[in-house]
Amino acid sequence: MSIVVTGATGNLGRHVVEQLLEKVPAEQITAVVRDETKGAAYAARGVKLAVADYNTPESFDGLFAAGDKVLLISGNEFDKGRPQQHKVVIDAAKAAGVALLAYTSAPGTLTAALADDHRATEETLLASGVPFALLRNGWYHENYTEQLAPVLEHNAVVAAAGEGRVSSASRADYAAAAVAVLTGEGHENKTYELGGDEAWSFAEYAAELSRQTGKEIAYNSVPAEALIGILTGAGLPEPFAAILAGVDASIAKGELVVSTGDLSRLAGRPTTPISEAIAAALKG
Ligand SMILES: NC(=O)c1ccc[n+]([C@@H]2O[C@H](COP(=O)([O-])OP(=O)(O)OC[C@H]3O[C@@H](n4cnc5c(N)ncnc54)[C@H](OP(=O)(O)O)[C@@H]3O)[C@@H](O)[C@H]2O)c1
Repeated sequence: MSIVVTGATGNLGRHVVEQLLEKVPAEQITAVVRDETKGAAYAARGVKLAVADYNTPESFDGLFAAGDKVLLISGNEFDKGRPQQHKVVIDAAKAAGVALLAYTSAPGTLTAALADDHRATEETLLASGVPFALLRNGWYHENYTEQLAPVLEHNAVVAAAGEGRVSSASRADYAAAAVAVLTGEGHENKTYELGGDEAWSFAEYAAELSRQTGKEIAYNSVPAEALIGILTGAGLPEPFAAILAGVDASIAKGELVVSTGDLSRLAGRPTTPISEAIAAALKG
């Protein structure tokens, strides 16, 4: 029996593998990577590597074994049909008879277009009959704290989220929940709505940035069209800018406030406060 993690060389995947290594022997972990050289550090620590690509179904032939526990980390190729990519992994997991397939999805409350691929994947997974765990991850702190350069340059947090609040958490927090599900018992056919313990507004986020930097940083709430203009002006493709503006509209409606407590319960500790993520990002 192995614990198999796809997207293992991505940002979330790296946290998952690191935290798994604290709990289980390295030889019980398989990291699925697209680029073997990116997985070399894992291999050096005894983690098994499997090279596969969601776009190449054959690359998943024989990758899983009966009884494996699998974490399918959703892909980031928005233009390549992620539901079909994810189905490749689900089909291979079904053929092998895995014990559990956990999928990193989006909150059930999220109506933004970003959630469409996740809802489609969830349907495929449920229809497959494979024992599943839906890890409906809320928003990452890092979506904001890794984008501080323009904020600090213009002394402004720009969003189209109005007074909406978001209960984000760190990638390490979501990874801890995934690791708990992969290494624990009784998670079959469960759906977890995962979010940070505390929700914050963009005005509060700007105030916390001001406090930590000693600068006057304001929240500039703009309409969705203006945000799309700003993001495309900064080089983002229009479809992706529109998806992000759609997320802000969802935040304005309160759709990214997750108050189930599932994340801290699974992680076994409180989630990381946004103030800590800001401090870490400012330290560089
Ligand atoms: N909750 C949130 O706030 C939030 C924010 C952004 C994204 N997400 C979703 O959560 C996922 C994980 O987040 P993250 O921060 O770890 O994203 P990330 O750093 O972009 O990682 C994405 C991972 O997916 C892998 N991947 C992409 N296309 C693939 C393909 N065709 N075949 C095999 N692997 C493929 C990548 O492989 P390589 O390492 O080879 O590139 C990478 O490991 C994202 O992909 C996205 O679906 C969630």
